[in-house]
Amino acid sequence: MNITDISRQRYTTKHYDKTKKIPEEQLAQLFEVIRNSPSSVNSQPWHFFVVDNDDARAKIMPAIVEMNHPRVADSSHTLIFCAKTPLDEQHLQNVLAQEEKDGRFGEGEIKEMMDKGRHFYVNKNSATPHSQLEWESRQLYIVLGQLLFAAAAIGIDSTAIEGFDDQKMDEILGLQQQGLKSVLVVCLGYRAANDSNATRPKSRLPEEQIFTRL
Ligand SMILES: Cc1cc2nc3c(=O)[nH]c(=O)nc-3n(C[C@H](O)[C@H](O)[C@H](O)COP(=O)(O)O)c2cc1C
Repeated sequence: MNITDISRQRYTTKHYDKTKKIPEEQLAQLFEVIRNSPSSVNSQPWHFFVVDNDDARAKIMPAIVEMNHPRVADSSHTLIFCAKTPLDEQHLQNVLAQEEKDGRFGEGEIKEMMDKGRHFYVNKNSATPHSQLEWESRQLYIVLGQLLFAAAAIGIDSTAIEGFDDQKMDEILGLQQQGLKSVLVVCLGYRAANDSNATRPKSRLPEEQIFTRL
């Protein structure tokens, strides 16, 4: 499938077939796409919780708005995208050490420059805890875009979910104590035979309204 076809065929799944589970090998591919997502100064300010069983679904359900219950109940996997709060020095040093381990720095002062540059952008976007979270959330939305597209490319349906109570989710999972904050929920799986959204035509503003060639 070419990329235009993938973008046309991807749609927001409203009802999943609970009997169908994503094979581990494909799940691993999607996790790799998440891991490889770009982020400003390679900050990777994230952590992801994976829900793949009914006990875990029941646990998070009180945080999901009612309209979205069927997606979480019947999809194969639900992911909870979290931001690191605060994005602390320990995390930045962890990223730096990983970059070194992965061979990003040769001889010279590259390592120091990278570290300085990252601190500059983190500080620039961290005037308040709120602005830091906003900046981190933008990185998580990049992951969302990559994940939805990649899932569609390998025949996996998905639903991005903002319709949840983030404070309740944080409480249920004890996120604050772990230095995390929930930002997004994503369901992955296979559409139900009667998912009406599958046959609803896609609707987008026409090209001439959204692009201006300079
Ligand atoms: C960030 C984000 C949050 C969304 N939240 C929800 C949600 O809580 N529940 C839902 O059913 N759909 C949700 N959607 C799906 C959108 O309504 C959908 O993407 C949009 O109407 C376009 O339709 P399409 O994805 O089928 O092309 C969300 C989409 C995005 C990108």
